[in-house]
Order: sequence, then C-alpha cells, then structure tokens
Amino acid sequence: MSENPTHDDESNSNQHTDPAHGADSSDDDFIVTPYAVSGEVDYEKLLERFGANTLTDAQIARFPDHPLLRRRTFYAGRDVDRYLEAAEVGDPHALVTGRGPSGPMHLGHVLPLYLAKRFQRETGATVYIPLSDDEKFLAKAQSFESIGKHTRDNLRDILAVGFDPERTRIVVDTADADVIYPIATRLAKHLTPATIEAVYGEQDSVGLQFYPAVQATHLLLPQLVAGRQPTLVPIAIDQDPHVRVCRDVAAKEALPVDKPGALLGRFLPSLEGPGKMSASDDAASIDLTDDPDTVAKTIRTHAYTGGQASLEAHRERGGDPSVDVPFQYLRFFFEADDAELERIAEQYRSGELLSGELKEIAIERITDFLGAHQRRRAELGDLEDELEPYRLTDGERKQALERAGVPSSPF
Ligand code: TRP
Repeated sequence: MSENPTHDDESNSNQHTDPAHGADSSDDDFIVTPYAVSGEVDYEKLLERFGANTLTDAQIARFPDHPLLRRRTFYAGRDVDRYLEAAEVGDPHALVTGRGPSGPMHLGHVLPLYLAKRFQRETGATVYIPLSDDEKFLAKAQSFESIGKHTRDNLRDILAVGFDPERTRIVVDTADADVIYPIATRLAKHLTPATIEAVYGEQDSVGLQFYPAVQATHLLLPQLVAGRQPTLVPIAIDQDPHVRVCRDVAAKEALPVDKPGALLGRFLPSLEGPGKMSASDDAASIDLTDDPDTVAKTIRTHAYTGGQASLEAHRERGGDPSVDVPFQYLRFFFEADDAELERIAEQYRSGELLSGELKEIAIERITDFLGAHQRRRAELGDLEDELEPYRLTDGERKQALERAGVPSSPF
C-alpha cells in the first residue's frame, strides 16, 4: 500500500504514475479540497488528480434511475460495481452521505440526500447520515452555540426528506462521541501528518488535521455496526479526499471492513453563474426554508442566464441553455422528464423562449419541490422525539466498538 492515499491502489494502478497530487502540488489553475474550491474546475482532470473513474453507461444503467445519474451530475466513482452487485442481489449495502452543519441547507445540499432516499426505496440500502458539527466548528468562524443551532435546523431538513427509520441512522459527531471518538482515535494512529498535508494542504489547526479520522469513521460505520458490506458515498467531488484517506486507513488497520466506494458529483452551479460554486458560503442561494416569494425574487434578481442582451437579439440568436442557471437547475434535478427538458432547451435555443420565461418555469418547479419538502418539515414534532428512531441503538454502538477493536465504556 502506498504511503499516499491519493493514488488509489485498486482502481487506477495503471493510470496515475505522476506523483504530483493533492491540494497544492498541481500545475492546474484550480483547487478542489474539502476546505477550498477555487478556479474553473476541470472535472475530467480532477479524476486524474484524484484517481477515480468515470462512470460507464453500463454502470449508470444498473443504478436506480435518477436524473442526477442519467444526466451525469454524478459522473464518477470508486468501487461502484461491488455496491451495484450487492444492490442487485439484495445483499446488505449502505450509503453514507453527511452534512457539515455550518448554515441553513440550500438546494445543492439536499440533492445527494434525495438521491440516497431513492436508492433506499428501490434497493433497500441502509443510509447513514453523519453531521460533522466538530468539523464545522473547526473550519468556520462560529461558536459551538451557532453550529448547534444549525445542527438542529439541518436535522429537521434531513428528517423532512423522509428516510425509512428502520434503515437509516443519523449521527452527530459531538452527540455520538461515545462511538465516534474511540474509533476515530484508532484510525488516527497511522494517519500521518505528511499524508494529511499531501491530501488537504496545510490545515489551520490540529483539530482539522485530526478530523479526517472522524469522517473516515463515518464512512466505515455501516460496516462496523452491521458487518462487512459494500458502502457507497455519494458526494460532491470536493469530499473525495476524505474517501481516499478512509480507504487508505481502512486497509492499514486490518478492520473487518471493505474500503468504501464513492459516487462523485459535480457542483450545482451557483445562481451567479458558471465558474462559481454553490459550495462557497456567501453566494446567493435558495434555502430549503425559502417561501415561494423568496424563491421567485432570488431567481429573478440573481440567476445568471444564457439569454441575449435585448429581446430582439434573443429572438434572433436564441439563448444558451448550457450556461443558463435556471435551465441547469431543471437539468440537475427539477425536470425529471428528458423529453420535456429537451423541448425547453430547444425553445430556448431558438429564441422562442425568453430568459424571463425560463426563470418562471424553474421557479414553479423549485417551488413545488420545496412546498412538499416544507410540508413534511412542518409536520415534524419535537426534534428529540423525531430523531429517536434514527439514532444508533445501544446494541449497535456496542457492535461498532467491538468490531473496531476498541473497548466500550469502562464504567
Ligand atoms: N464533510 C462534509 C461537508 O463538509 C460533511 C460530512 C461529514 C460528510 N461526514 C460525511 C459527507 C460523510 C459525506 C459523507 O459537507
């Protein structure tokens, strides 16, 4: 096993011999790490850098049908076949998709969750949803109090997605420290500062240097709780470094687990247009709690369009759906029907459909989606009660610690 988890041993042994990798050693003019995304992201180059594989048509066809996959928003992966095999024959299989609770959740954050819900419904996947309040406390200029408020607020949005409590576990790092901390400690033992620096670049605190061991714990949790099984992590590609570190330490620690796989997604474009990521904190965004008027106003004022400067020019030359943010929102998620999507694109290109009209279509679809989400959110009762069926049971905690070879509480 190489010292450096950037070069994944199994999936890419023949392709990636260039030792340059990671956060700061590349010649390319964009940066993608969990803590910094900048420049114009080249998604293909990123796969070379990270050592992940483009999804094949055959793989996409084997997943439950979803526009996020069909249209290749999720476009790459690691060890996808093992997961697909288990899902097809009905063997245990799991997804891990988490949330860093540093603010209100917006549309981009919820897409992997709805994808996970679809997979759960269609193939019975177990879904683990960790909330990394520790990570966000360390990475952001916020008090624990503020992070705690966002954690509770985000939990309501996660519950509103509608996962099956029998097959879903939600953990919060500081609240479930009894199970997470001992396992993370075990994983941290052979995670060297050199590896961390190579993968993430320089970190601001020793807390952040340790955190990858915590996220590695998240990714192994389904297997530690319920036994070895293919685990897939559907995430935006900036989180892939965490997956690589986890795969590396999992192998080093000789735990009864398989390396987790990944399903890697492109970023939802920010409202302001191409080149900017919704991952950045201060960009205008559509929050899950926005009411219809706010959604309409946000899109009408902020959404970048691919239309022409004047009505005459637009009628004559038409719009460009490939850079038009309202269109891209429809394509990512909100217009599931391929034929309808193509009809909209065609009308836009021909100049028949105006940017303002395209915005109104997106507003309507997004408002419908949010309306349903918000209705489910409003029906939730007391947070603690609602969360209870999704928390790890005492037995599950014990199992996880036992499989990880760390003692449960001595008291
Ligand atoms: N680190 C992620 C973020 O900043 C949140 C997260 C924590 C996560 N644990 C995870 C994501 C496990 C996917 C899988 O958004």
